[in-house]
Amino acid sequence: MNQRDKSTLRSHRWFGAADLRSFGHRSRIRQLGFDLEDIDGKPIIAIINTWSGLAHCHGHFPARVESIKRGVLEAGGFPVEIPVMALPENFVKPTTMLYRNLLAMEVEENLRSLPVDGAVLMGGCDKTTPATLMGAISAGIPAIFMPAGPMLRGNWGGKILGSGSDIWKYWDEKRAGTITEAQWSEMESGIARSDGVCMTMGTAMTMTSLAEVLGLTLPGATSIPAADSSHARMATACGRRAVELAWDDRRLTDILTPASFDNAIIASAALAGSTNAIIHLIALARRAGIPLALDRFDQLSTGVPVLANIRPSGAFLMEDFFYAGGLTAFLTRIAERLDLTAATVNGHTLGENIATATIWNDDVIRPLDRPVATADGLAVLRGNLAPNGCVMKPAAAAPHLLKHQGPALVFDDYDSMARAVADPDLDVTADTVLVLRNAGPLGGPGMPEWGMLPIPVKLLKQGVRDMLRISDSRMSGTSYGACILHVAPEAFIGGPLALIRTGDVIELDVAARRISVRLSDAELDSRRAAWVPPAPRYARGYGAMAAAHIGQADTGCDFDFLQQAGVIAEPAIH
Ligand code: FES
Repeated sequence: MNQRDKSTLRSHRWFGAADLRSFGHRSRIRQLGFDLEDIDGKPIIAIINTWSGLAHCHGHFPARVESIKRGVLEAGGFPVEIPVMALPENFVKPTTMLYRNLLAMEVEENLRSLPVDGAVLMGGCDKTTPATLMGAISAGIPAIFMPAGPMLRGNWGGKILGSGSDIWKYWDEKRAGTITEAQWSEMESGIARSDGVCMTMGTAMTMTSLAEVLGLTLPGATSIPAADSSHARMATACGRRAVELAWDDRRLTDILTPASFDNAIIASAALAGSTNAIIHLIALARRAGIPLALDRFDQLSTGVPVLANIRPSGAFLMEDFFYAGGLTAFLTRIAERLDLTAATVNGHTLGENIATATIWNDDVIRPLDRPVATADGLAVLRGNLAPNGCVMKPAAAAPHLLKHQGPALVFDDYDSMARAVADPDLDVTADTVLVLRNAGPLGGPGMPEWGMLPIPVKLLKQGVRDMLRISDSRMSGTSYGACILHVAPEAFIGGPLALIRTGDVIELDVAARRISVRLSDAELDSRRAAWVPPAPRYARGYGAMAAAHIGQADTGCDFDFLQQAGVIAEPAIH
């Protein structure tokens, strides 16, 4: 730790001068009930807290704030809690993704405008991880990420339940008539039974795990269940480390490199991570000034075996993963694919952080010769249906659908699709390709997680459990199936998905990375000329601003005015 002269602390600009404005700042510290000795010469550490009374996955954050404060005080800093919007994944409509960039702006502007020298970022529930990191990267303030940790295993009737994944499965059973209302209600009580984020390898655990691979958490932090006492100890350690980072003026951009993003992509493939990570990693990289193209995900993921035996791709849950050694142990399995010289927030390299990690259960963290899956975890597809790309998880799809052609059944909106799939007489077969459009960044709006389009009830009753589905939306990381996602450009702005009609033949060849509609260029051009853009989703407010500035999925869905790297001048103190 480089303990600089206190006058070099950022917060000293607010409190250190002998002028009228500093009088005001110091008097307000006293108004808060503190003496000047409480802050004098101490880094002020912002605890960015994504808690609210509806933050279902962050119920332990009020207690963890106290743990972090203890760590900050122990290390000679001064902790301040800064509440920001919570983005509880299940409650926020139309989708938390609409508000990821708003939270990122809120974090960035709080850090920039307030007298703080460093930050602990408390996040975990899906978008809170990328959003707080994007904000801290752009603010240029030293920071460390404190992951919320997974909830305990779900339980129903002696069966283990995983967030999302199992409910998708049981929902299909309920629609097929094999699950009763009473059983369904019991599942509601048993599936989310502690604080913490979804305990499958969904978006939350994928993104917090990748934050650790990127070097932005303490080693081992992300796998600790929220209910485990070591989670509180980890929070305290985050507080201590944040003070050291502030003295060292060590920022997230000092840690993030192209190699660290490559590490994250490879780790995500071996974890069978959520496809949402693609969008968030691209957005994070751009904030850090690192170009990261969609095709990099395909290049680096190809041939990476899935070694994390975690639902939805595997059998276990995050609690088991923690007992098996957690992420640090997991990374030893793929160490030879990683750049172990990558820097991390604790001052050691990634290689040093995992050097002594031990795998305790080979069934949960599989050896290289016994992977959970060898099929590619991720494929980036292109063609006349997705000129700027789309993505799919081949390992999560029924193998016979990886090369497929069939007639499209096209829906313009979610509600009409939901009505149709409930129709027992729907004109559909197992070869049909379900298409949902107008569900992208502008069309959704906010690119909701509708990508696992429900299988029509008529087919469910015939025993069909997977079929080819295409949309410009995202998919929950807890979902599975032959779902093609993130089609870019989206239909709402006139992408080719807007031009297809029910009955057009869709052709998929995953090995060739091709997705196309069997239509000539001339036919597509003629339909494009006749296409009428839909009315904007928002006439005013944040939604209108988002629509005016949001990028497509292949560029990370960040706002155009936010995605650049670069330093914004410190605010004047007048
Ligand atoms: Fe919060 Fe899944 S709902 S992480």
